[in-house]
Amino acid sequence: MKRIAVIPGDGIGPEVTQQAVRVLERLQSTRDLELDFVHFDWGADKFLSDGISLPEGALEMLTSDFDAILAGAFGDPRVPSNQHAEDILLGMRRGLDLYINLRPVRLLNERLTPLANRKTDEIDFVVFRENTEGAYCGAGGFLKKGTSEEIALQEEVNTRRGVERIIVAAFEYAKRNKRARVTMADKSNVQRFGGDLWQRVFREVAAGYPEIETNHQFVDAMAMFMVLDPSQYDVIVSNNLFGDILTDLGAAIQGGLGLAASGNIHPGKVSLFEPVHGSAPPLAGKGIANPVGSILTSAMMLEYLGFPSESVEIEVAVRDAISANETTTDLGGNLTTEQAGSAVIARLKN
Ligand SMILES: NC(=O)c1ccc[n+]([C@@H]2O[C@H](COP(=O)([O-])OP(=O)(O)OC[C@H]3O[C@@H](n4cnc5c(N)ncnc54)[C@H](O)[C@@H]3O)[C@@H](O)[C@H]2O)c1
Repeated sequence: MKRIAVIPGDGIGPEVTQQAVRVLERLQSTRDLELDFVHFDWGADKFLSDGISLPEGALEMLTSDFDAILAGAFGDPRVPSNQHAEDILLGMRRGLDLYINLRPVRLLNERLTPLANRKTDEIDFVVFRENTEGAYCGAGGFLKKGTSEEIALQEEVNTRRGVERIIVAAFEYAKRNKRARVTMADKSNVQRFGGDLWQRVFREVAAGYPEIETNHQFVDAMAMFMVLDPSQYDVIVSNNLFGDILTDLGAAIQGGLGLAASGNIHPGKVSLFEPVHGSAPPLAGKGIANPVGSILTSAMMLEYLGFPSESVEIEVAVRDAISANETTTDLGGNLTTEQAGSAVIARLKN
């Protein structure tokens, strides 16, 4: 029995998460798979009504009682500071030390990419984004704030341990999944200290995986090559900031945010799975959001929990539904969120 904490969140989060849970429930009714879902109402409504974002003791409870977390999205125009979203999402990522942000970029159907003449096997890679440090650690400060001489310092943290464990994770993934090449993206030509550490650690770790080809690109060049020649990538590893930017580009070339899945992972510990997109307030409540990002996220979660064949089954069902144009409007179909979920479920074998 695997225990799943479901945190649908705000906006379209609950709508898409509901479809992912339906898919999982359908699978568990027909497969040797036991999942126990516990829903949590953390999000903007709770924050606005009782001031609670991530409840006290939540991280301990998630660690002791659950195997994985399936989240929707967080963000609400009624909370302009985005405080609750930061508390909940960054709170879990940091508090649970989820140092791997794993984002697959896979073209499921040729018509989905904005790039011309690309076959599905030409866009198929995964990005390992460092998820706990880098430019996102909140270090820095102001001097003479509000004056014409104002200085804003924004610092970046790169620890030996943090850099090493994300690079090792990328190589281990490549080895396990028979991926030929790991490419590291950095900006070590100008970021001479952090970049130097990444370079040294990359070379040291790579030496332990002689069967895997290594490659290095400056992140600006990678952004260009991801558009011009995405077929060269198998596994990409980068820091928090560059990984964040590159994966939005990755989401675009695979067909848009509505399709992109992600995992926030600490191997062996409770890990968090969420679609890449946010709460998309303009779409919320209309029943038109694409549930596929969330459904593919649930497939990633199943793989993490030790059910790789069921995970692949979901991916195949999604691909078949897209091929039949049984999609929401963002992908050119005319289905509602729920109908798109049903289209995937209908393709799961009994
Ligand atoms: N992980 C998260 O929870 C997360 C991530 C990004 C943004 N956010 C938050 O979400 C809110 C909205 O942010 P945003 O508008 O910049 O990004 P967004 O991802 O919510 O939406 C951007 C646009 O992408 C499209 N889109 C996104 N998901 C879609 C789906 N499932 N189906 C169809 N179209 C989809 C829509 O056109 C949408 O307007 C903000 O509060 C932001 O802070 C949260």
